[in-house]
Amino acid sequence: MQSVSTHIEGDVLVVLVNNPPVNALSWHVRQGLKDGFEQGLADPAIKAIVLRCEGQTFIAGADITEFGKPPQGPDFASVLNQMETASKPIIAAIHGTALGGGLETALCCHYRIAVPSAKLGVPEVKLGLLPGGGGTQRLPRVVGIEQAAVMCSLGEPISAKKALETGLVDALAQENDLAGDALRFARDMIAKGPRPTRDRPVTGDIGIVEKLKAENGRKWKGFDAPYANLRCVEAAAAHANIDDGLKVEREEFLKLMAGSQSAAQRHMFFAERQAAKIDGLPKDTSLREIRKVGVIGAGTMGGGITMNFLATGIPVTIVEMQQDALDRGVGIIRKNYEASAAKGRFTQEKVEQMMGLLTPSLSLDDLAECDLIIEAIYENMDVKKEVFGKLDRIVKQGAILASNTSYLDVNEIASATARPQDVLGMHFFSPANVMKLLEVVRGDKTAPDALATAMAIGKKIGKIAVVAGVCHGFIGNRMLSKRQAPANALLMEGALPEQVDKVFTDFGMPMGPFQMSDLAGLDIGWHRDPSKVETLRDALCAAGRFGQKNGKGFYDYDEKRNRTPSAEANAIIEDFRARSNMPKRDISDQEIIERCIYPMVNEGYLILEEGKAQRASDIDVVWVYGYGWPVYRGGPMFWGDLEGAGKIVSALEKQGIKVADSLKAKA
Ligand code: 3HC
Repeated sequence: MQSVSTHIEGDVLVVLVNNPPVNALSWHVRQGLKDGFEQGLADPAIKAIVLRCEGQTFIAGADITEFGKPPQGPDFASVLNQMETASKPIIAAIHGTALGGGLETALCCHYRIAVPSAKLGVPEVKLGLLPGGGGTQRLPRVVGIEQAAVMCSLGEPISAKKALETGLVDALAQENDLAGDALRFARDMIAKGPRPTRDRPVTGDIGIVEKLKAENGRKWKGFDAPYANLRCVEAAAAHANIDDGLKVEREEFLKLMAGSQSAAQRHMFFAERQAAKIDGLPKDTSLREIRKVGVIGAGTMGGGITMNFLATGIPVTIVEMQQDALDRGVGIIRKNYEASAAKGRFTQEKVEQMMGLLTPSLSLDDLAECDLIIEAIYENMDVKKEVFGKLDRIVKQGAILASNTSYLDVNEIASATARPQDVLGMHFFSPANVMKLLEVVRGDKTAPDALATAMAIGKKIGKIAVVAGVCHGFIGNRMLSKRQAPANALLMEGALPEQVDKVFTDFGMPMGPFQMSDLAGLDIGWHRDPSKVETLRDALCAAGRFGQKNGKGFYDYDEKRNRTPSAEANAIIEDFRARSNMPKRDISDQEIIERCIYPMVNEGYLILEEGKAQRASDIDVVWVYGYGWPVYRGGPMFWGDLEGAGKIVSALEKQGIKVADSLKAKA
């Protein structure tokens, strides 16, 4: 099959791209475009050329799978140049998503027409890149500096309607007749002739650049690409001759392409899509229908989980044991929605619509007709088994029974029912209405269609779902546990919480282990006897330091929960260390990484060896979307490869840690 074909419609040549799934600019597409335009330009009977795409979308970008490979076919810049300088008007006819190199191609057409549902953007920044096909120079010439700076640095696409307002498209086509409208529009443009973007002046106020930096400084911390994008937009403003700006863009693009951030972000792009695939699933697996959901527990997790379904338009019955707890849970859901409505995220009417889908109940019997039930009560095996035993007697056959457990054995939970094939884990991350990750835990007896349905419903409610096997803590928490023990040990050897946490936040994580402990609460699992002080945690709890909840833990907190290092906590740490006869020594930042992060990487390899994750990239997805591992470092497995297996193995062996065979094999 040819990925680019042409056909003649009277005096117009239509160049048609057909390169499923997203019409990316693979080398053969570039070749086909070059040949197609050459044909149109050489034929005296042709007066205008329309560029259109088959399938679900206009060109959605460069072919990312070609990055880093030896180049083939004509280079992108020469194809773009051929189009922009053509002697006959070229019209881009846009549907679906004109993204990245796709929009850059459209910008080298002389006119653009789009259907109302189309979206246009330059998302390269999300891949750690910038629009390297002239997008940073041509967008400012078409939509002005302000809009171009926003689009390049944030990467969000705009609607066709907005594109019309900003001049990015010249006309809207009928939704169901782009082909016809594009032809008519092209004929209208014959008299006007070509309008090369490169000849248009740059307009607008460059002050937007500093404004964007100030507004997004926190979000962009650690990232190179947003700043590189803005430097290119500045170059567009500074140089009247586009070729000078294009030179700057080229240099900045090549720097980003050569760096590890873009490699990591591209890895995550594919990792995220790969995670949805379930290895070994029978081809004929069909999904179960989920029309009604039940959630057991109206606490923080249960409430957050419920919000995801309501927001997707799926009715939820939420069950609690006591009326006051039920009222509190439902009240918090409403409060959260109203807070979002107050911020303008949706209307009050939408709040009522979502709340109208919620049925509060005090009885598990009300879950009988649900298609999916998610248990979100506290972590106690006996209680969970009792609940699942009851569900087994109450709920209709074929329903999926899920537990939101974060550590417990899903097989044992399933054994409390006579239908283990319908039982699995759906582990959400707190706050469950915000965090993107969902670990779907596959029990030994979980049926393929139950698993596939849980993965699909996860996607439907906006999560990135990853399959995990049954083991203590599954993928994420199992790895997390490997950093807490050494972090505690480091305090005993002379580090302070703020020093350890800073290494993590400098690394790009949202918080370090001690900030996380304070957030979770230091008194969780504490024996509540202040006279019994066996661990550092006991010592802090004995002094009434329970974490963020009472304003003091490893840190002191003000009423806005801002944290400052605590002289009292640090004195307790010093005192506990001295009483344990531990000598104090200087601890380097590098040692903190080697002691806390290397063991996590090792645990990732063990998880893979045991088959508890399907692939290394799934582990990266878990850490980026569940724990805020910086996407520009690509997750612990990708990062481990960059850091070097040899270096990691020798550091782990020095610490006396048993190293995974597969990690050793890489060293
Ligand atoms: N190159 C290669 N493959 C791509 C691709 C691309 N640009 N975009 C998507 N794909 C692949 C996906 O990996 C996926 O493959 P799979 O089926 O084997 O998993 C398949 O196409 C379908 O993708 P999605 O599952 O994401 O499909 P959706 O329909 O949900 O979304 C989309 C479609 C909105 C186009 C989305 O795929 C997307 O955002 N793609 C990336 C767009 C982008 O970043 N473009 C810029 C590329 S960089 C560039 O152009 C550089 C230039 O400036 C020089």
